[in-house]
Amino acid sequence: MYDVTIVIPTFNERDNVRPLFELLQKALSGRDWEAVYVDDDSPDGTADEVRALAFDHANVRVIQRIGRRGLAGACIEGILSSTAPFCAVIDADLQHDETRLPVMLDKLQSDPDLDVVIGSRNVEGGSSGDGLSKLRKWGSDQATSLTRRVLKITASDPMSGFFMLRRLSFNQVVTGLQTEGFKILSDVLAASKGTWKTAEVPYTFRTRHAGESKMDAAVTLEFLSLLLVRMTGGLVSMRFIMFAAVGFSGVFVQLAVVRLMLAFMPDAFLLAQAAGVFVAINTNFFLNNLVTYRDRALKGKALLRGLFSFYLVCAFGALMNVGFAELVYKTVNNWALASLAGAVAGAMWNFLASSLFTWRA
Ligand code: GDD
Ligand code: MN
Repeated sequence: MYDVTIVIPTFNERDNVRPLFELLQKALSGRDWEAVYVDDDSPDGTADEVRALAFDHANVRVIQRIGRRGLAGACIEGILSSTAPFCAVIDADLQHDETRLPVMLDKLQSDPDLDVVIGSRNVEGGSSGDGLSKLRKWGSDQATSLTRRVLKITASDPMSGFFMLRRLSFNQVVTGLQTEGFKILSDVLAASKGTWKTAEVPYTFRTRHAGESKMDAAVTLEFLSLLLVRMTGGLVSMRFIMFAAVGFSGVFVQLAVVRLMLAFMPDAFLLAQAAGVFVAINTNFFLNNLVTYRDRALKGKALLRGLFSFYLVCAFGALMNVGFAELVYKTVNNWALASLAGAVAGAMWNFLASSLFTWRA
C-alpha cells in the first residue's frame, strides 16, 4: 500500500503530464507514493498520455471521467479512489511547489491529530509570485477575505488548490461536498466546521508551464454561489442560484429587445414583448447550458431536443406564473405581491421541470 496518493486534476494538460511526474519523482524519492491523474476526457488526449506514462511506471493511474466537468468533483473522485492513509491535491501545470509535499507528509505522519496541511501563499515565506496577473491577484485576495469571513475559516489561504489531508478525516466531510467549481479546499474546511487541526506550509505560486488556465467567469459565478449555499446552510442549492441568476439576466435581455423593437415599430408593443420573451427564453437556455449545467452541457442533436423541451417547460412555467398570481391576487388583493409570487412560482417550476426534462442527469 502507498503512504500517499497525489491527486492531479487535469483538463487539457497533455504537455504537463510528464514534466510534473518527473518533478514528483524527484521530490518524493524514497517515499511510497502514487500519482492519480483525474481527467475529464480532455480533447487533447491527456488521458492517453497518462496511460503511456503508466506503461513504464506502476505508481501511475488515470481516472478518465466521461460526460462530466469540474475541478472539485475530480479531486473528490481521485481521493476516494485512493487506498493510502494520506492524499494530496496538486495542479498539473507546475504552478504548485511539489518540493513541499514531503514536508506535508512528514507533518501528517508525525502528528495523528493533524487533519490537513495547506500549501499557503499567504504565510511568511510564501507568495503569489508571478503566477497571477494583477487582476487575478486582486480577485484572489477579495475571494480569500470573503471566504474566510463567510465560512469562518482561519486558514490563511483557503483558495489554495494545493494541500494534503488525512483520508479518515476526509471521509467525515465528503458527503455533501460541491462537485462544481474550483474551491475544493474552502468547501472541505467549511464542512469540517472548525473541528479540524490544520497546518500551513509556505510556497511560491509559479507561472503555468504548458497550456492555459481554465478559470473563467463561470468559475467565478460558481464560487459566489458556493458561498451563498454555505451561508444559507444548504437551504438553496448551487444550481438554483445559478439558474436564478441566469433568469435574472433574461429580464434585461427581454427589456433590451423590447426597447430595440419599439425604436423601429413604436406601435407594436405586443409583438415587441412577445419577441423579447422569446429571445430571453433562448438566451436563458444557452446560458444555463453553458453555466448552470456546464457539467452536463447538451451538444449536437441533444441541444435541439433540449431547446424544444425548454420551450415547453417555459410555456407551462408562464401558465403556472399567471395561475398562481391570480390565486394570490384573489386572496390578498395586492397586485405587486401577487405578481411577484407568480414569478417565483414560475421560476421554481422552470427550475424543477428543466432539471427533470431538459438537463436530466
Ligand atoms: N478534471 C478536471 N476538470 N480538471 C480541471 C478542471 C475540470 O473541469 N478545470 C481545471 N482543472 C485542472 C487543470 O487542468 C489544472 O491541473 C488544475 O485543475 C488547475 O486549473 P487551472 O486552470 O490551472 O487553474 P488556475 O491556475 O487558474 O487556478 C489555480 O490557482 C488558484 C489560486 O489562485 C488553482 O489551483 C485554484 O484551485 C486556485 O484557487
Ligand atoms: Mn494553473
